Amino acid sequence: MKGYIFDLDGVIVDTAKFHFLAWKKIGEEFGFQLTHELNEQLKGVSRVDSLQKILNWAGVSVSSEKFDELATRKNADYLTYVEKMNENDILPGVKAFLEKAKQENIKIALGSASKNARPILQKLGIISYFDAIVDGNDVTKAKPDPEVFVTAAKKLGLSNSDCVVFEDAEAGIEAAKRAGMKTIGIGSSEVLTEADEVFSGFDEILRMEK
Ligand code: BG6
Ligand code: MG
Repeated sequence: MKGYIFDLDGVIVDTAKFHFLAWKKIGEEFGFQLTHELNEQLKGVSRVDSLQKILNWAGVSVSSEKFDELATRKNADYLTYVEKMNENDILPGVKAFLEKAKQENIKIALGSASKNARPILQKLGIISYFDAIVDGNDVTKAKPDPEVFVTAAKKLGLSNSDCVVFEDAEAGIEAAKRAGMKTIGIGSSEVLTEADEVFSGFDEILRMEK
């Protein structure tokens, strides 16, 4: 494999729990309790699509002004958690795995739905590892559409079949498969049933490679 494409939230850093907390608060405004099980369907999904899902689950519809206000407020709340993050929040094994990939001359890209991806990578001090970054500001079609990963491969100058995607979300695994890329699930094999292989994290991958 010539290229690694990493999702951000829940793969490089555990921001998935902050997205969950912020969406849960929004749901509660409509008397809806977001569960961890339903939250799996929000992972990897864009901000707008996530809010639409929550409103559907809550059985409410809102004006477009209210919709924008809710999305803005969710993001502001999410950013209060993100502000407190630093390089200690990088998930175990990620930095060593990036180092190893660099030494092996494997190209590295980010393929994230988040519009906050660049500032988060900067905060974590690992943005310089990435040869290409494709995030929620660069694509028009959200995961499970393959656009984000196809664009990342193009930016790396690689064909799709030369790339491996690391993902914690069902929508992300589907997107990568539709792009014809190898998929490594980060998380639980009970959830990521469609991934080619699943690991609990990068520390486990590094242990297996030894
Ligand atoms: C994905 C997360 O990486 O980014 C989703 O898994 C999130 O939970 C999406 O909704 C969009 O992120 P942001 O930071 O632009 O709201
Ligand atoms: Mg993710």
